[in-house]
Amino acid sequence: MTNPQDNTTVLDVRNVSKIFTIPTPGFEREYIAAVDQVSLALYEKPARIVSLVGESGSGKTTLARLMLGLTSPTRGEVLYRGKRISELSKDEWWDFRRNVQPIFQDPFSIYNPFYRVDRALDITIKNFKLAASKDEAFSLKAEALKAVDLRPDDVIGRYPHQLSGGQCQRVMLARTLLLHPKIIVADEPVSMIDAAVRMLFLNTLLDFRDKYHISSLMITHDLATAYYMGGPMLVLCFGRVVESGDIEQLLNNPSHPYTQQLLAAIPSPDPTQRWDTRANAKITERPLTHETNKCVYVARCPYAMPICSQQRPPDYLIEEQHYTACFLHQDKPTR
Ligand SMILES: Nc1ncnc2c1ncn2[C@@H]1O[C@H](COP(=O)(O)OP(=O)(O)OP(=O)(O)O)[C@@H](O)[C@H]1O
Ligand SMILES: [Mg+2]
Repeated sequence: MTNPQDNTTVLDVRNVSKIFTIPTPGFEREYIAAVDQVSLALYEKPARIVSLVGESGSGKTTLARLMLGLTSPTRGEVLYRGKRISELSKDEWWDFRRNVQPIFQDPFSIYNPFYRVDRALDITIKNFKLAASKDEAFSLKAEALKAVDLRPDDVIGRYPHQLSGGQCQRVMLARTLLLHPKIIVADEPVSMIDAAVRMLFLNTLLDFRDKYHISSLMITHDLATAYYMGGPMLVLCFGRVVESGDIEQLLNNPSHPYTQQLLAAIPSPDPTQRWDTRANAKITERPLTHETNKCVYVARCPYAMPICSQQRPPDYLIEEQHYTACFLHQDKPTR
């Protein structure tokens, strides 16, 4: 996925790997390539929502943490406005903290149960010096809450346990909006809230894109959520991006057997059709260790060929901006 206007790239993940060492009872060390040579860019013009889809353990949270500067890559680099996150000056780091905002999965875990939820907004206004007076701070807070469809009276002065998960998540969106960031990195933000509130949340992210030009990385294990958001999508499988392109392209022409498997795992509305249980059959399989020279999906792939166990497949171009790392497409040009 290339940026038409290179000077507007905000976050640039370049060939990034994160290898974890796992202690074992013996002397042998075990490695897990949680993120394995991933590249992706988020830019501000035009604002867009990129979806990152993958099942549990595929490395989604690790990638989010790398992009937020919460952990550093084993190899490769994450650049903020062209500079490695680890090398930002104090002012640049402050700018990064303001412009790249996280939203996490568990809406309750980020709040201190002993403090009112709107304290998260007060602290943000104070730390980033967003208001000159108490009155201005209060009206900023109220405006931000209204912009995410919350009534200030329902939220201000309440404790986390007095709000629903969906309300807590939207308070986080209100906090984010106060800062007018360039990028939101949202790690499974809707997986713990119910369907109706989920739509409100997703619509708010779409509004942020259209009204305030805020781009988002939407991390989800749910293809339906990615489809609703539209735009580009990356499919992550055991730390590697196995397919990328526009979501319509991926749904109409899924080219990697793993993407095909993910699609097969969506339950059919036809009650006579059984949910394809093959899709979840080997979900407990361990990730590949240490950046192996083979396809990450070979053990599960119904089309596996000898070459799949001998080499890492490069990205083959399926159609414009649509790439697949699978030897079934080796007649096509590589990236
Ligand atoms: N700090 C860590 N130390 C060792 N291994 C880790 C660490 N963090 C993650 N892992 C491993 O890296 C892999 C990817 O984990 P990650 O949490 O990024 O996956 P995920 O896609 O976010 O999963 P989920 O959908 O369940 O949230 C997993 O195999 C996990 O066990
Ligand atoms: Mg996760």
